[in-house]
Amino acid sequence: MLKVENLSKDFPVEFDVFGRPVKFLRAVQDVSFTVEENTVFSIVGESGSGKSTIARILCGIHKPTTGSIQFMGTALKGSGHREIQMVFQDPDSSLDPRKTVLFSIEEGLRIQKMGSKEERRKLVLEILKAVRLTEDVLSKYPHQLSGGQKQRVAIARCLVLRPKLLILDEPTSALDVSVQAQILNLLMELKREFALTYILITHDLKVVYHLSDHTMVMYLGQVMEMGETERIIQDPLHPYTKALVAAIPTAGTDNLNDFSLKGEIPSPLNPPKGCPFKTRCDFAFSKCDEKPPLIDFRGRKVRCHLYAEV
Ligand SMILES: Nc1ncnc2c1ncn2[C@@H]1O[C@H](COP(=O)(O)OP(=O)(O)OP(=O)(O)O)[C@@H](O)[C@H]1O
Ligand code: SF4
Ligand SMILES: [Mg+2]
Repeated sequence: MLKVENLSKDFPVEFDVFGRPVKFLRAVQDVSFTVEENTVFSIVGESGSGKSTIARILCGIHKPTTGSIQFMGTALKGSGHREIQMVFQDPDSSLDPRKTVLFSIEEGLRIQKMGSKEERRKLVLEILKAVRLTEDVLSKYPHQLSGGQKQRVAIARCLVLRPKLLILDEPTSALDVSVQAQILNLLMELKREFALTYILITHDLKVVYHLSDHTMVMYLGQVMEMGETERIIQDPLHPYTKALVAAIPTAGTDNLNDFSLKGEIPSPLNPPKGCPFKTRCDFAFSKCDEKPPLIDFRGRKVRCHLYAEV
């Protein structure tokens, strides 16, 4: 359904007196992946690893510096695609505080000039029911809703456009813990009901494990490991993935594991030469001063000198 090839994004961060960029931050570096229809593809990695940048490129918010994106067989260019929609971390950022719920949900339909007024109203009611909200919220403003209700409205805003691919960028991290599971359950029900495909961005590897089919682990803009979620979580290969998995809190323990994430992430403006993870890796050796290629290893991809292609 989605094929991303050699995607990179450089953000200009310093300019000369004429306003010309003189320094760039490489937020995403040569990232390729494929998402199959009706599956959940997770992107994980610490803050600043480039996850949201990829999401924004797929939605047409950012232009890639290099690379290509194929969506349902055609090249994606520029300003996004109706069938790719994104749910943001903070519902407040996607809802206008001065507009009613009805206005917000219907807005995309009006912009896309979809249907008559009656048809739009019918569609809004249908989607409202699907996200388990009742008609009385339609006349309300965002500040009159709970966090969970606001996220349901934000999801409805996307769904009304009948997307095929939904990008969920930390869809529950701004919500109370008690509401997080409800929204995740709803998203999984909606996936079945509307035959959706998800790209899920989250810091929560437990959620990744339970909900996703494939996972891509990123660090400083690069793919470190990629493959079937179950195998990645149960048998992580890359030292970075091992550390992330070891940091998953387990019930009843203090989470004392052999692997844990030590030290700070280096500045993306001045990333380490060679392997980007070498400043924090327990296994680093002389070869790690050279950049490791992303190789195929036992049915998955891994970028680490500890492994040789098989
Ligand atoms: N518009 C921008 N201009 C300059 N730098 C940017 C811009 N957007 C993102 N960046 C930088 O690009 C890098 C990747 O950012 P991104 O938001 O994609 O990370 P992320 O993985 O989503 O992190 P988080 O988990 O905190 O959401 C970061 O170093 C960030 O500071
Ligand atoms: S390439 Fe070297 S530094 Fe990088 S993750 Fe592998 S062992 Fe660690
Ligand atoms: Mg982000």
